[in-house]
Amino acid sequence: MRTFQGVDHAGIGVGDMDQALEFWSGKLGFTELFFDYTGPVPGLEEIAKTKGVKARIVMLGNKHTTRLGPGKVKLVQRLDGAGAPAYPAGIGYGEVGLAEVCLHTLHTEKIFRQLVDKDGCKSLMEPLSAAVGEQEIDLDIAYIADPWMGKVELIDWKGLWTARPAAPRIEGVNHVAFGVHDMKVTTDFYKQLGFTDQIFESTEFFGPMAPWYQVGRELPGHHMTLWLSGQGAGIEPVRLTPLWEDCRGEWGHVGPMDFGIGVQNIKKAVAEFQKMGIEMHSEIQSLDVGNSEFKYVYFKDPDDQYVSIVETSY
Ligand SMILES: [Fe+2]
Repeated sequence: MRTFQGVDHAGIGVGDMDQALEFWSGKLGFTELFFDYTGPVPGLEEIAKTKGVKARIVMLGNKHTTRLGPGKVKLVQRLDGAGAPAYPAGIGYGEVGLAEVCLHTLHTEKIFRQLVDKDGCKSLMEPLSAAVGEQEIDLDIAYIADPWMGKVELIDWKGLWTARPAAPRIEGVNHVAFGVHDMKVTTDFYKQLGFTDQIFESTEFFGPMAPWYQVGRELPGHHMTLWLSGQGAGIEPVRLTPLWEDCRGEWGHVGPMDFGIGVQNIKKAVAEFQKMGIEMHSEIQSLDVGNSEFKYVYFKDPDDQYVSIVETSY
């Protein structure tokens, strides 16, 4: 058993939970409820720079989750202060902070057409096909927006999962993408946490993303890599050239904003972190979420992203 079990969930800030559930459960199939918690969220004092974080947190799994779509989504509605913080100004793709959540999706184009033409979702990128990596792995991708314009990628890893035994469907989270200052520092760091299988590396600007950058801003260089772990969902660090402003935003901002790495035993995992010299943002926290506990602790990655380890028994 590995200590670190890949990305357990993508954390997504929402402005209104009913609207978020209509999108994530109603349209994208995240109908499996793990918990629905409202109350204080401790352990965020350093990250949120306030002691009074209060939120409603709904953890959802996808009804069609598979090995290529194993991750859950954690919807977070901040209830303290002025409510959900705004989407960070200046986000195009790849600035330091979370860039997207990606869902594995069999038959991307059919699903995209259903979501955009029938379900009223907004398109951020029309479906396209590509082949990546030394092994020319085939994939189809498309992007839609969540209700607050957060980026949701739909990917069909045709080259990794060549049989198509099922009807068109959305599965769970395949990876989260985030911007970094230094690709090597980040990838060396996350290799220690089990993200050792590189699926691709790209150093060319990905043209279909051009409309995402503000008018008047020079298009940046893109360096992207995608890493899977033996379990859980993967990570996609992105390095822009030149670097742009820090777009981590406030914790809980709408759109993709944090992620959690699964562990079986959080105390043992923290001991491993101590051995590796990785600092934590707080003690281990535990929320009473009804029939179980949600145990988590945020740690400091090289860019101080909002990233935690969570015990997967919730
Ligand atoms: Fe991606």
